[in-house]
Amino acid sequence: MKILVTGGMGFIGTNFLKYMLDKYPDYKFVCLDNLSVEDSRKNLKDFNEYRNFKFIKDDITNENSIDKIFETEKFDIVINFAAEVAVDYSIENPNIFLKTNVLGTAILMNACLKYNVLRFHQISTDEVYGDLQIDSTIQYDESAQLKPSNPYAASKASADLLVLSYYRTYGLNVTISRSTNNYGPHQSFRALIPLTIKNCIQNKKIPIFGKGDNIRDWVYVLDHVKAIDLILHHGKIGHIYNICGKSKKNNLYVVNKILKLMNKDQNLISFVEDRPGHDVMYSINSNKIENELNWKRKYSFDDGIKETIKWYINKF
Ligand SMILES: NC(=O)c1ccc[n+]([C@@H]2O[C@H](COP(=O)([O-])OP(=O)(O)OC[C@H]3O[C@@H](n4cnc5c(N)ncnc54)[C@H](O)[C@@H]3O)[C@@H](O)[C@H]2O)c1
Repeated sequence: MKILVTGGMGFIGTNFLKYMLDKYPDYKFVCLDNLSVEDSRKNLKDFNEYRNFKFIKDDITNENSIDKIFETEKFDIVINFAAEVAVDYSIENPNIFLKTNVLGTAILMNACLKYNVLRFHQISTDEVYGDLQIDSTIQYDESAQLKPSNPYAASKASADLLVLSYYRTYGLNVTISRSTNNYGPHQSFRALIPLTIKNCIQNKKIPIFGKGDNIRDWVYVLDHVKAIDLILHHGKIGHIYNICGKSKKNNLYVVNKILKLMNKDQNLISFVEDRPGHDVMYSINSNKIENELNWKRKYSFDDGIKETIKWYINKF
């Protein structure tokens, strides 16, 4: 089995590849990443020891070289993690999000069709469903309407629709997973949890948007990675699977939790101007993957955040 993992040197891709390389020594993994993110260049160093791993530096929007790579490598499965992911950057510069997240996905799927790839899996996000008010008790399932509210989320929703259209129109064997906010090892310091841990270590101010009352549902990255493995091996073709952490917390709670665990004072917190159109709360359920594929999350937020802090302290 030969698997292409695009964007595999990013946060979730790195955790996925490490898990899969250890679990499936007989599979071959190729990671294609343009290393546009500094942290991804650092992650690459962790893969020297693996025999069944190959790295290709390229861009998923580079149609000619993607075609040649597929022709040469003959992949069985393609998993697309590659994406522009920073919501703030998508507000300043939406075009690059359309190029990578939508066109890039189409280019990969065209190559899958041309070279008879058996399966295409798209990594998506709960942000495609849009946000809810803080007091809402709704939990979206996979059939909910897509209502993205920023260019990043809209580009991911567009890609999801395109993936489903390739299933219906061309019969490409596709699956999609939509997860909530991930946290854990190898995440970029741009993200809330690693930035908070780093600033605690360095006794620097920790910026929080608005009043810190925006709510996200946090899933530990290893629980997410195991869910993707299950979908690849047992998921139904043409289906979408939500993956949630059942750990809804507002940003202020998350930062205070880290401050407490790291014995730091609350005066490190600095409230900054909110981002335009900041989504209030995302809420999905993952009943489908739990009932159909028997996925169980292992980490509570309390356990996952302790593991995460430990990992960053060791790295520093
Ligand atoms: N981080 C989260 O909480 C979260 C939650 C739900 C879904 N997702 C999705 O998971 C995927 C991975 O997210 P992440 O948090 O690991 O992001 P990340 O930025 O850490 O990783 C993305 C990787 O893709 C690479 N990349 C970007 N553009 C590329 C291109 N044009 N060609 C080739 N490689 C390219 C980057 O170099 C990087 O290594 C994304 O599709 C994202 O939408 C993330």
